Amino acid sequence: MAVYNIVEKEDELLRERSKNVPKITTNVLKLLDNMLETMYKSNGVGLAAPQVGVLKRVIVIDIGEGPVKLINPEIVASSGSQLGAEGCLSCPGLIGEVKRAKRVTVKAQLPNGEETTIEAEDYFAVVLQHEIDHLDGILFIDKAKRIQAQ
Ligand code: NI
Repeated sequence: MAVYNIVEKEDELLRERSKNVPKITTNVLKLLDNMLETMYKSNGVGLAAPQVGVLKRVIVIDIGEGPVKLINPEIVASSGSQLGAEGCLSCPGLIGEVKRAKRVTVKAQLPNGEETTIEAEDYFAVVLQHEIDHLDGILFIDKAKRIQAQ
């Protein structure tokens, strides 16, 4: 495994729309593992492929309940709202209040190719929304009400 450099917010690459992954190759599996290692090393709870310079629709999350690796994740339903503090490994030192859906339903593929449907709420729902935003070139600072230096 390897640790990647994390792309920071000034980089235009973070503003691109990432591409669907048509086939789960060994390269994609390696990408997922390296992204997790990179995320853990930086004490993050989520990481999206564009943050390591790869424009593929791939995210990893671990909110303390074990690693989640998702390919082509898509929010298919959302409800409610919640306001919470967010940060981002691509925006070091910044924290902001972001309004998000309270619950989301996400469809995605797992590394073994299986389709999965995740019903998430509260913090897990926030992290899913934050990471999937990255795949569309959106950063939390675009949505945050108050942004503060940490
Ligand atoms: Ni982020």
